[in-house]
Order: sequence, then C-alpha cells, then structure tokens
Amino acid sequence: MGVTQVIIGVPKEICPGETRVALTPANVTVLKKKPDLRVLIEAGAGTSAGYLDASYEQAGAEIVSRDAVFQQAEIVLQVQTPGSNAANGSDDLNSLRADQILIGMMDPLASPAFASALAEKNITGIALELVPRITRAQAMDVLSSMAMISGYKSVLMAAAESNRMFPMNMTAAGTLAASRVLIMGVGVAGLFACSTAKRLGAIVEAYDVRPAAREQILSVGAKPVELDLDTSSAEGKGGYAQAQGEDFLKRQRELMTEVVSRMDVIITTAAIPGAKSPILVTADMVKAMKPGAVIVDLAAERGGNCELTKLGENVVEHGVTIIGPENVPSSVAFHASQMFGKNMENLLNLLINEEGKLNLDFEDEIVRETVVSHKGEVPHSRMRQLLNLPELPSSQDEASAS
Ligand code: NAI
Repeated sequence: MGVTQVIIGVPKEICPGETRVALTPANVTVLKKKPDLRVLIEAGAGTSAGYLDASYEQAGAEIVSRDAVFQQAEIVLQVQTPGSNAANGSDDLNSLRADQILIGMMDPLASPAFASALAEKNITGIALELVPRITRAQAMDVLSSMAMISGYKSVLMAAAESNRMFPMNMTAAGTLAASRVLIMGVGVAGLFACSTAKRLGAIVEAYDVRPAAREQILSVGAKPVELDLDTSSAEGKGGYAQAQGEDFLKRQRELMTEVVSRMDVIITTAAIPGAKSPILVTADMVKAMKPGAVIVDLAAERGGNCELTKLGENVVEHGVTIIGPENVPSSVAFHASQMFGKNMENLLNLLINEEGKLNLDFEDEIVRETVVSHKGEVPHSRMRQLLNLPELPSSQDEASAS
C-alpha cells in the first residue's frame, strides 16, 4: 500500500449528540512532522469541542468542505463511524469511497455487519474498540480514555441530582451526614467514579465480579463490598469480565439488596464486551432504596444495569431517580477529544512510518486485531465468527497477500 503522500481527513461528526472531534490541533502539529503529510479538517469539525478552525490552520491543517474530506482523504478519522451511529451513519457510509482507510469507533462486536459493508466497498476499516490490551497499545486505547471521562462525569451527574451533599459537614445548623456512594463494576470508569466521589467527600463502597478489582478499590480509598459468591471464573481475556449465568446474577442481586438499600447514590458501570449488560439492580431493589436516592447507569447504552433504566431519560420510581445517560464523554468534549485525539495520533504513528509512508503491517498484533475489513475481505477471525463466515486459511497469509 505504498503511496508517496498520506492525506488524513477529519469530517465533522454527524451522530446526534456527538460533540467530540477525532483529532485536535495539537495532534495535527505532531503528525505534520511526517514528510509530505496533509491533514484536511472539515470547517467547524472541532468547534463543538472547543477547537477552532484557526487553531487547526495554525497547526498546519487545511480547512476544507465535507465533500473534499471524503473525496481527497486517504485515511478518514471519525469518533463515531457509521458502525456506531445507527441514527444517520449511512450518510457517511455513502460518502466513503473504495481504497480509503476508515479509523474510529464502530461497535464491531455488536454491529459486525458494518465490517462486511466496508469490505463490500473495498474500504479498510480499523475499529478502535478492538485495540488489544497490551502495554504497547495502552496509549491508543480509546475505551479506557473515554471510560475515565464517563466515570468522573457520572459522579457529578449524581451529585447534581441528589438531594444531599456528598461531604460530611458540622455546622451551626447541625451535622450533615456524608453521602453513601456505591460503585458497581470497577473497571476504568468505576475506578474513576470511586476516586471522584471520594474527592467530593462521600463514603464510597465498590463491588466488582472480578476478584482482582479488590486491590484497585482499596487503592483509591474505597471499601470493597464482599459477597459470598464464587467468582473464580469471572475474569476473561484482557482483564474483561466473563458473562455470568443467571443463577449467579440472581444470587448476586439477593446479597446486594441490603447494601443497595443503604445507599444515597449508586453508579453502575458493569459491562460484558459485545453483550447486553447484566441486571445488577432490579425494580424491587430500587423500591427498597431511600427516597431521593440517585442511580446513574453508565451501562444504559448496552441495555443498562438497572431494570428501570431508560436510555437518555431520567426516570423517577419510588422516589429514586434513575439516570440513563447517552454518550457521556461528549458532555466533556474538550478533554474527551484531547484524549481521543492523542490515542488516534499514537495509532497513526504506528501506521505511518518516519518517511510519511503508510505501512499496514499485519505482522503487528495491533494492526491484526483492529483491522475489520481489508481488500474486500473481513480478515479478523473474531469478526468472521460473529458474521458466521468460515475461517480464512490463515489471517497472516491473507495479510501478506496485501
Ligand atoms: P468494562 O467496561 O468492560 O466493565 C466494567 C466493569 O464491570 C468490569 O470491571 C467488570 O468486571 C465489571 N462487571 C461485569 N459484570 C459484573 C457483575 N455481574 N457484577 C459486578 N461487576 C461486573 O471494564 P474495563 O473498564 O474495560 O476494565 C476491566 C479491566 O481491564 C480492569 O481491570 C482494567 O483495569 C483493565 N484494563 C486493562 C487495560 C490494559 O491492560 N491496557 C486497559 C483498560 C482496562
């Protein structure tokens, strides 16, 4: 795939509610150090995140029309590609053309058909959600970056909705008890929620199905909730949780009911990659909570961890407010874009060599694990399984044919 000049294009995001941008001016400055590289930014692409056209121009980018981005760019960068944008992503898919490379979030495990759609159009798709969890790839991991932002913001959302303050206060008008906060699911988002709630002065408890989470909970000053459950098979590949059976989840809910009833705020973040989120808080558990309590369900986009969650809505049931937020990182668009852009820049540094040439090296685990479509084919073995396609003779052989 050797070419003399790499042209990167960043269209404005079109997914409703999406305010982030895939590359910031600071990333353009770094990328422009590569010989002959051009960066095309659609006019206004960064405005909603706080990055103005003039800053991109100063960094060496060219401000162009949307059509010019899609027609001229060899690599198109998006936060939400059509794969993760069910609302109007098909418009973008129509604009993409053969031989382009598309990099962004594409919800590959839940929407594998998008990989086939890209393959049909002979577009190379690189799904950021599939960046492997290896040390070298940490700097490219948008899931972690965005989870940090969501964990932080979820606590602020809860605090804003709560009828109590978080810190303990001894005042002339009496003593105010500290809020009790429970974090359920302590991955990246959950840990950030723990530390943010601690900083605001709450008493924080946290629970995760993975035994390894206990140490991390303690490290941010929160108290682990211990349940009498066998969690020996809870952790799978890459540190992700394995799906648990319904018996396990039922017992977990029974044991959790008393803990939940003591809480003023609950943040839920429990996710299983590519699957519907487990129900951790039932309607009956909500009924047993204090009036005025708040639940922020960060798993709302994946069906929710609370039985009463409605995506994009604040539901009040039995005096408890259940918030089902959509696209939380977009509400912190400046910093979310800064992190997203840095992850993107690091990935581009892997794909474009020092001479400014594109080098899609399938020997590299990061390339192999993230490319979902290439040369009219879906080379990714996990995606092929999801699409019920037969195994290719060897993904390496296929790649070396490129
Ligand atoms: P995630 O977003 O996939 O899920 C959130 C949390 O929910 C996980 O901790 C999971 O164990 C938990 N969960 C799932 N089912 C549950 C249930 N029934 N009850 C309670 N909790 C449940 O998680 P995330 O943020 O991806 O992190 C998972 C692990 O991977 C963490 O240990 C994290 O530190 C690690 N990680 C490692 C990275 C690397 O090595 N590059 C990058 C990002 C995360």
